[in-house]
This record gives sequence, C-alpha cells and structure tokens, in this order.
Amino acid sequence: MSKKVKIGIVGLGAIGNVHVNAFQALGPDVEIAALSDIDPAKTNALAARFPKAAHFSDYRDLVKSDVDGVVVAVGNVLHKEVAIAALQAKKAALLEKPMAMKSREAEAIQNASRKSGAVLQVGMVRRQMPAARIVKEYVDKNYFGSIYHIRAVLIRRRGIPGLGGWFTTKSASGGGPMIDLGVHFFDQVMWMSGLWKPTHVSARTYAKFGPRMGDYRYVGMWAGPAKLDGKFDVEDYSTGFVRFGKTATMSFEIAWAANVEDQSYVELLGDKAGTRITEGKTVTLFTEHENRPADISPQFDSNANLFECQARAFVAAIRGEQPPAATGPEGVTVMKLIDSIYASSERGCEIKFGDLGPEGR
Ligand SMILES: NC(=O)c1ccc[n+]([C@@H]2O[C@H](COP(=O)([O-])OP(=O)(O)OC[C@H]3O[C@@H](n4cnc5c(N)ncnc54)[C@H](O)[C@@H]3O)[C@@H](O)[C@H]2O)c1
Repeated sequence: MSKKVKIGIVGLGAIGNVHVNAFQALGPDVEIAALSDIDPAKTNALAARFPKAAHFSDYRDLVKSDVDGVVVAVGNVLHKEVAIAALQAKKAALLEKPMAMKSREAEAIQNASRKSGAVLQVGMVRRQMPAARIVKEYVDKNYFGSIYHIRAVLIRRRGIPGLGGWFTTKSASGGGPMIDLGVHFFDQVMWMSGLWKPTHVSARTYAKFGPRMGDYRYVGMWAGPAKLDGKFDVEDYSTGFVRFGKTATMSFEIAWAANVEDQSYVELLGDKAGTRITEGKTVTLFTEHENRPADISPQFDSNANLFECQARAFVAAIRGEQPPAATGPEGVTVMKLIDSIYASSERGCEIKFGDLGPEGR
C-alpha cells in the first residue's frame, strides 16, 4: 500500500462531519479522497476544504473508487447495504454504531468481511476513552480479580433524539435507546471485563414519553427539531439483567427519557477491586492495601479526542499494524444481546442469549 491512506466517507450528516475532522487531524499520511451523500449540499459544503476529493452522489461509485478505507456514517437502515458493498469491493470499512439494525444483518456484514478479507472495524468509540483503556489494562493485569457483576446505566431525563424522525421510527433505526446508546455501553463493559459470553437475558422495555409527541416536554433535542407528524414506535426506557453463565451478571438501565436525574456510568465489581467510569471524570479503583480498604486514583490525560483515536486505529488496521479496534464478531455479539433484550421484553420472560426464533427479530 502507498504510504498515504485514502479514506472515503459515506454520509456527511452530524457524525460524518465528525469523521471528516478526525481523519483530517491525522496529518499528511491520511487523505480524505472521496465524499458521498445523497444531498449535494453536504458534499459541496466540504468542497473548499478538500478540493482534491472526489464527490459521489451514489456510494456504490465511492466504494469502487481509489480509496483504501470507507467510513459508513449513514443512518442505521443503510449500514448493512453500504458496509457490504465496501467490503465486497475489498475496501476496509469503519462502520458507525449500531453495527446494524439487528444481529442477522450484523452477521451478514461480518460474513462479507470474512469472505473478502477486508478489515472491518465497528465504531465503538467509547473503547477509546482514556479511563476505559486504563481499566482494561488493570483488568488484563488481574487487579480486579474475578469480575462478577457489571452495572451499565445511562439515563437521560429528557433526551429523545429527533422525535418523529429516523431515530424514533423502528423501520429506520431498529430500536430506541438500546440501539442508539446501549450498544456503546454493552460493548465497552464486555470489552473491558472480557465477559463476551452472555447466556441468559431478562429485560423489559417501555415507551412512556415518546408516544406523547406534542406533549413531550424537553429543553434541547439532538437531531431536532421534532417532527410531530412523524412516528415514535420504539422504546424510550429499558432495564434488565444478563447472566454470563454462573460466573457473572450485568444489570442495566438505558433511557432516553425518565423522571429522574441524568445518570451515566458503568461499574465493574471484582473480588479484588471495583470501579466506576463516568465520562470526563477520573477513575478510582476501590480496592484494599495493607489490610485496609484503599482507593487508587491514577493520573492521566482525559482530553483525548475519541474519534481521532478511533480513526488512527482504523488507519493502523488498514496498514496491517494492528487488529481493528472493535471487531465484527464482537459487534455481532453486541447486536445479539440487543436482540435478546427486545425478545425477552416481548415474551415477558428470561430467554437464552440469541434464542430469537426461526425468523430472528
Ligand atoms: N458514534 C457515535 O457516538 C454516534 C453519534 C451519532 C450518530 N452515530 C451514528 O451515525 C450514523 C449517522 O447518524 P447521524 O446523526 O450523522 O445522521 P444524519 O441524519 O445527521 O446523517 C446521515 C447522512 O447520510 C446521508 N445519506 C442518506 N442516504 C445516503 C446514501 N444512500 N448515500 C450517502 N449518504 C446518504 C444523509 O443525507 C445525511 O447527510 C447513525 O448510524 C448513528 O447511529 C454515531
């Protein structure tokens, strides 16, 4: 491969532009060589910054062009189609989260990567959090001992994104906060803890705020304004319990809206140490020293740009210098967990992980 890695970006909306900035920040060895969006205003808006980049209204032309890697930053409903096209064209793919709308689609994407041999990295950007990387290092050094319970909590008091738009329309998004945010948290805790084998899932989802549409009271809205003639047919709150055989368990609450204060953390409980990770805060290891409970608070730079770190890892994977920062099989496991959560809620009972029936979800 030439020294310079050429990147094409499909989907130049909110997160597509974050990727543009992240890859540009990597310096002269990385080039943003191609841009694609069905809305020409989105590609045109970047023309002055990237005068040499090719513009494509059809992503199928971009994946066939002279690029080494493709960032898939379109809405969830297009993840499978665009990612598979890129992988079949033997282009590395950095695929935004959620990996797909459901696990069957995620498996098809992973199969395309396996067959073509092209690199697939899933956009699990929370793995790049400095705090998460430190905790992962400590887990690998066995500072936590046996990790037996995980808590994953993300509750927004009022945080439904794009009410009535694609986020809240199941046929376009695949689901609500589980698909939007749960994927990040589940991937992060399974990656840090190494607990990649869930066995049973008991969960319940609710929709108490979104269906009110015009009566939903909020302060700000990501991906707004609200489209009150649109749909809300996904959940806005979910809670549940996951078993990892007899070894470990996880409890979770993931919500776009709830009548409690905002909360966002993951916790690992081990028999030698435990910790809580909260975005932008220091990490404390709750442990013991010299026969007393003691805390360790490592000093670190918490200011990393997570998308730049993710982009750097993708470029290194394209160059063959390291495996992808988050792999296809790991992404499939996360999607199976999400599908199992929805299936458990629909059936009203605990289910075996991945027991989704002949049709899948
Ligand atoms: N990692 C994160 O933290 C994070 C944050 C936000 C969004 N996301 C994910 O990124 C994806 C995009 O979300 P967003 O908020 O940027 O959405 P968005 O609606 O702002 O952007 C999507 C873009 O894709 C374009 N598009 C639609 N069809 C296309 C096609 N066929 N070819 C090329 N472009 C096409 C649209 O015109 C739009 O510009 C979603 O999957 C979302 O879950 C990830």
